[in-house]
Amino acid sequence: MRTFTSAQSGAGGPNLRDVTTPDAQWAGRVRALAAERDAVILAHNYQVPEIQDVAHHVGDSLALSRIAASVPQSTIVFCGVHFMAETAKILSYDKTVIIPDERAGCSLADTITADQLRAWKAEHPGAVVVSYVNTTAAVKAETDICCTSSIAVDVVASVPHDREILFCPDQFLGAHVQRVTGRDKMHIWMGECHVHAGINGADLKAMVAAEPDAELFVHPECGCATSAMYLASEGVVPKERTRILSTGGMLDAARETKARKVLVATETGMLHQLRKVNVTTDFQPVNRAAVCKYMKMITPEKLENALRTGDDVVDVPCDIADRARASVERMIAIGTPSRVGE
Ligand code: 13P
Ligand code: SF4
Repeated sequence: MRTFTSAQSGAGGPNLRDVTTPDAQWAGRVRALAAERDAVILAHNYQVPEIQDVAHHVGDSLALSRIAASVPQSTIVFCGVHFMAETAKILSYDKTVIIPDERAGCSLADTITADQLRAWKAEHPGAVVVSYVNTTAAVKAETDICCTSSIAVDVVASVPHDREILFCPDQFLGAHVQRVTGRDKMHIWMGECHVHAGINGADLKAMVAAEPDAELFVHPECGCATSAMYLASEGVVPKERTRILSTGGMLDAARETKARKVLVATETGMLHQLRKVNVTTDFQPVNRAAVCKYMKMITPEKLENALRTGDDVVDVPCDIADRARASVERMIAIGTPSRVGE
């Protein structure tokens, strides 16, 4: 069994060592503590494998939002990043939401503040604001409708054609949505996720050349111009074998593929679920270094500790939550639910 240290996960201060062995005893303790606390454990597809395996539900950000809105337990322990836990709080305001390390942020969410969005709106009066769910609660409060990568196209398509759209904060997802919907009155914020922007076209081209029969699963946050996203959508890499998918969409595609090999352009935590749902296909990352240090701040020891202490409660001021809820609920109402692992 692996032993985690904070140095491996990239989390915590220099003296903080996580020496928990995430074995069957650990999993038993975690599930027992969750039952005592009347807690449900939700884990994003990018969490470390042991946390995905112990969670009650694993999924993409849309699926986890839907679950957070409907679970019967009084406490939600969110193993993901801060904006995801905030979204759970917004949707289930009467519940206690805990994140095992409140420092687990998101470089993409950090690329736009509520002040910046207000200023942008003032430049485009009457525009409809579509924000990716990777935003703070304060940004969601300034938003008309949120989206995740799995339903961004449906959300933009739901806006009447004559309306101007402000899409934030991910420029690559925005460019993808604009290409698919053909919207012209759409302004895109120039934010990016450092992990996905780092999955570039050079890596992808080299891997496709070495594996000419492989399928490609590409997350729409991946970088542009010389990048995976651009090459895939422009057909520079084989279009018929290239799928642009959310993490939940990748899982659905993995269940169905007959390919011998699939190259996966997203955060490497995704490989665990893909390999679980399809044991015959060989799933390989396009970039092994595509690791989100924020997602990996949630360690087995911190999860157990959070269940024991109930610390690191996520709070969203009531007025912000009320304003943000409408935009998140509009998102939840659109599109088909993505599947989750139990
Ligand atoms: P998904 O909505 O595909 O789960 O993506 C969330 C995310 O943070 C991607 O980096
Ligand atoms: Fe944010 Fe990127 Fe990490 Fe996703 S992978 S949580 S977008 S920093």
